[in-house]
Amino acid sequence: MRPRTPPPTAPAADPAPVPAGAGPATPAVAVPVTNGPGGTGPVPSGADLATAPTVAKKRILEVKELSVEYAGVAPAQAVDKVSFGLSEGEFMAIVGESGCGKSTLLFAIAHLLSSPAEVTGGTVVFNGQNMVAMTDKQLRAVRWRGMSVVMQSAMNALNPVMSIETQFSDAMKAHGEKNPNYIRARSEEVLVLVGIDVVHLKSYPHQLSGGMRQRAMIAMALLFSPELILMDEPTSALDVVAQRSLMVQVKQLQRELGFAIIFVTHDMSLVAHFSDRVVVMYAGQIVEARPTRPLFASPLHPYTRGLLEAFPSAYGPRAPLEGIPGSPPDLTKLPVGCNFQPRCAKAFSRCASTSPDLYELDGAVVRCLLYSGAGDGLPEPDGGTGRDVQAGRA
Ligand SMILES: Nc1ncnc2c1ncn2[C@@H]1O[C@H](COP(=O)(O)OP(=O)(O)O)[C@@H](O)[C@H]1O
Ligand code: SF4
Ligand SMILES: [Mg+2]
Repeated sequence: MRPRTPPPTAPAADPAPVPAGAGPATPAVAVPVTNGPGGTGPVPSGADLATAPTVAKKRILEVKELSVEYAGVAPAQAVDKVSFGLSEGEFMAIVGESGCGKSTLLFAIAHLLSSPAEVTGGTVVFNGQNMVAMTDKQLRAVRWRGMSVVMQSAMNALNPVMSIETQFSDAMKAHGEKNPNYIRARSEEVLVLVGIDVVHLKSYPHQLSGGMRQRAMIAMALLFSPELILMDEPTSALDVVAQRSLMVQVKQLQRELGFAIIFVTHDMSLVAHFSDRVVVMYAGQIVEARPTRPLFASPLHPYTRGLLEAFPSAYGPRAPLEGIPGSPPDLTKLPVGCNFQPRCAKAFSRCASTSPDLYELDGAVVRCLLYSGAGDGLPEPDGGTGRDVQAGRA
């Protein structure tokens, strides 16, 4: 009997935003979890703390020391020894400005990179199998059935000259499904799951609205009831109303069907409302990773604070948005010392010469010398900005 999904139920209530100041007090001094200088040494299992589930659940994904380079005259290290784990049913967000390596990381996990990108090290173990070492045939058995991907732009990802039905059917046939009756029934079922009338199986992508196209992509990702869905900025082309309604629906589907999500975005308000934990990336590296609630209540890394301060709060006195000066570094010419040093308001003398390790704090990892406990920079007493950085946004 093939897995079938339950019929849709009434929409779930919009998840409540994370209340400001709800996080636990964070110790200011931490121990490094990387061995080598520059945060490039092997990351022992302590780094998983940031993504460790609060309730013991089956671990479905382990990313260890994953590195990706874009070859060229000057190679760009787009993903630099990234490690994290993910458990069943989790919603993990990856955030950072454009060019920080988020999409490259997602594509490396799904083994979808092509030249000039190359995985130069590390492992991606999905349900006990290392994706990095798999043959194309082995990958076909995992992709879509175990793990599926929703791309950033539905209009580009969907074939404009094929109906939705044909695209669903092709995807199922390519992954071994031969029964036309089942293909038809399952296509209708997933379309209904994402709130689209089955008449649109006959529609072409240009006949659907932007929100419907993105929903159709999500329906396609659900065809084989995967355990994990990777989403690369699925809402970035939508207006805020369509964005919100899509996210509420994704969260509802996740509750009903139980799949895990890795959600790439630069929208901190979506992260605050929908994710369980957050990985913040800068210049190809993880700079902070921890559960969502404490991250928003007391961000540790100066870059995380900058990202949060770049979004307006709906509550409290009106204040000018501060943002982060400058732009992310060219990955072929990284600065000496901390990658964030040229833009960091908290930088001190060592930052210009020493690359920070990833330090482990209470339930978090952070890559910043302020938390090394052994320098001329003093750890910050409150570990945060003291400002309501997220409440009521989105
Ligand atoms: N096709 C490419 N060729 C060469 N370098 C690339 C290519 N795509 C991405 N890069 C490099 O990888 C970095 C990360 O890109 P990407 O993963 O798309 O970032 P994000 O998704 O965070 O915006 C870019 O800043 C760039 O240096
Ligand atoms: S190591 Fe220094 S420059 Fe880098 S984020 Fe920390 S304080 Fe800023
Ligand atoms: Mg991207």
